[in-house]
Amino acid sequence: MALQLAPLAALAFTARLAAPLAPRSRVLLSADPPADPSAVPADVVQLWSEQWWPLLFSASASKTAPTPLHVLGAPLVVWWDAPRARWRCLLDRCPHRLAKLSQGRVDARGRLECAYHGWAFEGGGGACEALPQRGAPCGRALALPVVEAQGLVWAWGGALFGGAEARGGPLTVAEASDPRFSVADYWRECAVDATLAAENFLDPSHVYFAHHRTIARREHARAVPLRLSSPLRRDGFSLRSAQPQEWPGTATFHAPMLAVVSTRRAGSYNTTLVNYCVPTLPGRCRQMVRICFETARMPPPLRQLIGLSSSRRLAWLSHITRAAAVVEDDHGLLHDIEHFYRLAAPPPPASPPGAPSQGAELAPRWEARLQLPTRSDGSFIALRRWVDTYTRGRGVAWSPHTPAAALAAPPPLLAPHALLERFESHAQHCTACRGALATARRVRAAAQVGALLCLAAGAARLAAAAYGAAMLAASLEARLLVGPVPRERRDS
Ligand SMILES: *[C@@H]1O[C@H](CO)[C@@H](O)[C@H](O)[C@H]1NC(C)=O
Ligand code: FES
Repeated sequence: MALQLAPLAALAFTARLAAPLAPRSRVLLSADPPADPSAVPADVVQLWSEQWWPLLFSASASKTAPTPLHVLGAPLVVWWDAPRARWRCLLDRCPHRLAKLSQGRVDARGRLECAYHGWAFEGGGGACEALPQRGAPCGRALALPVVEAQGLVWAWGGALFGGAEARGGPLTVAEASDPRFSVADYWRECAVDATLAAENFLDPSHVYFAHHRTIARREHARAVPLRLSSPLRRDGFSLRSAQPQEWPGTATFHAPMLAVVSTRRAGSYNTTLVNYCVPTLPGRCRQMVRICFETARMPPPLRQLIGLSSSRRLAWLSHITRAAAVVEDDHGLLHDIEHFYRLAAPPPPASPPGAPSQGAELAPRWEARLQLPTRSDGSFIALRRWVDTYTRGRGVAWSPHTPAAALAAPPPLLAPHALLERFESHAQHCTACRGALATARRVRAAAQVGALLCLAAGAARLAAAAYGAAMLAASLEARLLVGPVPRERRDS
């Protein structure tokens, strides 16, 4: 995971970044905009396509129903092929008449059966193995190579661009499979560009304010100057705290999607916060967050408490409290910021049909438009320079399967309450939250009936207890569906 760097280059680079706002060096300007603005340069396409993309956390993914999701603009369907004990992934389009395969079902032989006319596809190569209309089986769905690693299901992006054979391994993080650490996972579909999610995650100084009363306190705010500890490269960059006594951390970007923030303390437990920022559609991403605490070095009550809150059984509880709240704290801010980033952007170029396309520049002339006087913005500056240098400022190279409408227009500006929505963006495809939702609904219905029966029988106390239980279940149900508004940080 550690970025390798030539010592001399690193030295020169660190010296240069002592003043992060100094004029950009030549290496950072190496990329000129392409002559034909609709043609994405091959190296940019390769950067996004030739990757293993995380799709799902396997522990909270359905093993009975197919799950629809997007990666790089392409609609995909993922399912569990029980007879072969493997996750499978196809383009979510039936080759027969383009129905969504994710509306179908998984048959007893582990194949995905289309809901429209019942063609059944095996997951290995996408071949159609059953055709109820009795023609010779023909047609093949587009299949993506899939691996499971570190509790994540990954698919090879190259297949979406009609190219590159799968190679290399997924971008895993050592702490996530280190027995000294406990790991809690959360994911959420967000109305934010993936690069904004990454710039936010790598920025320690927003935590005290944006997450006031969620995981931090604004009274504890301090300067967190950051210094590049490796040169900006195509495969990412790493920054470390310039004042480790204040904040002993590092912020690392493993291009093009993995943001990692680690704190290492000699006298206390270490933490590693991981965020896979997966581009789903233009202006949208899936944040797949892993919180790794070194529980082995925690004192006893805390160790058990953190261990318990990371347990699979209680995943839904963290998904409706801290984990969801932290993402929601940022969501409204980032969604709005992105809209203003784009304001100064030229309209996206029309692209030839079938060609991989891309939107307008995401944050044009950001260096001139933003005030960045302190080194606490070091990770933001590094991330935006990485986007400028290695993607020509365009960010994601969207696959040819991206809906044309999503490429043509900038994403709409959503109302704040829409960004707190938790069912479409998470619970419906999280087995833990779906289970909790079904239980909460059953408990509420039963407690309501119980309260009425007790009331009719004259047992007022029992009726009150049942009514209390119904209210509790109803509030749980509400939290599984939508985040609280207004945010707590406003109150004090
Ligand atoms: C935690 O951080 C300390 C201090 O940097 C380091 O010596 C130790 O190896 C780390 N432990 C783990 C499990 O990563
Ligand atoms: S569209 Fe899938 S079987 Fe007809």
